[in-house]
Amino acid sequence: MSTVLSIETSCDETAVAIVKNRQVCSSIVNSQVAIHEQYGGVVPEVASRQHLEIINQAIALAFTQANLTWQAIDGIAVTCAPGLVGALLVGVTAAKTLAIVQQKPFIGVHHLEGHIYANYLSEPSLDPPFLSLLVSGGHTSLIYVKDCGVYETLGETRDDAAGEAFDKVARLLKLGYPGGPIIDKLAQKGNARAFLLPEGNVSQPSGGYHPYDSSFSGLKTAVLRLVQQLENTPPLPVENIAASFQESVARSLTKRAIACARDYGLNTITVGGGVAANSGLRHHLTTAATANNLRVLFPPLKFCTDNAAMIGCAAADHLDRGHTSPLTLGVQSRLPL
Ligand code: KG4
Ligand code: ZN
Repeated sequence: MSTVLSIETSCDETAVAIVKNRQVCSSIVNSQVAIHEQYGGVVPEVASRQHLEIINQAIALAFTQANLTWQAIDGIAVTCAPGLVGALLVGVTAAKTLAIVQQKPFIGVHHLEGHIYANYLSEPSLDPPFLSLLVSGGHTSLIYVKDCGVYETLGETRDDAAGEAFDKVARLLKLGYPGGPIIDKLAQKGNARAFLLPEGNVSQPSGGYHPYDSSFSGLKTAVLRLVQQLENTPPLPVENIAASFQESVARSLTKRAIACARDYGLNTITVGGGVAANSGLRHHLTTAATANNLRVLFPPLKFCTDNAAMIGCAAADHLDRGHTSPLTLGVQSRLPL
C-alpha cells in the first residue's frame, strides 16, 4: 500500500491530491474555466501562469484536508504528458523539487492512464482486463487494459476528440466554453430525433467502416450547415440541435465500445474523461451494455474531468510494483499511452 501526493496541471485545472492506493484522502481541484471562458478556450500562457500562482497553496491545502504530514507520503506523482507543455512544466517542476527536498520517489504519470484509474476510485474492486473508453477534450480512445501499465489502443478518433466536438459545436451555437456541460443541459430539453446527423464512420481501404475508430469533424460540419440553413428562419432551435448532436456522438461512441468489448471478450467497460459526464452517453451506453450483458462503470462526475486523485491512484499502483521515474523525465505535449 502506498500513499502518494499527486499533482495534475496538464491543462486548465490546478489539481493536487493525496491518495492511499484507491482511497482519496484529499482532492483539490482549482478550475481556471472562469479565466479562460472570456477567450472562448484555454490560453496556454495564461494557464501556466495561473498554475504557478496557486500550486503551492493547493499542495498545502491537500495536506490540511487529508490531515496528514510529509511523513505519511511514500511518493510524489505528477502528470508528465500529454498536455500543454508550459502547464505540465509547472506541475513537473513542483513535483521534482518536492521529491528532492523530501527525498521521496518520483513517479511521472501519463494523463490518459490517470483517466483510466479514475474508475478504481469509485470501484476499488475493479481489476483488469477491461475495456476503457476515454473521451476527453483531447482524446477519444478505446483502450484494452491488460494490467497496470499494459495497454493496447484499439480505437481512436481520426480528427476531433469527442469533447473538442462538443466545444466546437457550442462555439458555433454561441453558447460559451466549455461546451460539453452547456450542450448536455440544453440537450435534455430538446428532441434528439429532430435532426438526423452523421455518426462519424471511418472508411477502411479494404472496404466497409473501421469498427472502433471514429471521426467527429464531419458531424461538426453537418451541424454548421444545419445552423446556416436554419438561420434563415429564426429563432434557432438550439435545444433540438444540441439534443440531435449529442445523440449522434453518444450513439457513435456506444456502438464502437460495445462492438470492441464483444469482439475482445471483455465484459467490463469503464468510461473516463470529461465526456464521461455526458448524460446522453451515460444513458445510451448503460442501456446497450445491459442489453449485451456487459458491465459499464462511470466515475462520479468530480473524477470524470481532470483531477489529481486519478493520477495519484495510478502512481500508487506503479509504486507498489517498484516502478518510479528518473528526475530527468521531461514533459511532452503528445505521447501515446
Ligand atoms: O478530461 P477533461 O476534463 O480534460 C481533458 O483531458 O481534455 O475533459 C474536458 C472535456 C471538454 O471538452 C468538455 O466540454 C467535456 O470534457 N465535457 C463534457 C461534459 N462535461 C465536460 N462533454 C459532454 N458532456 C458533458 N457533460
Ligand atoms: Zn483529461
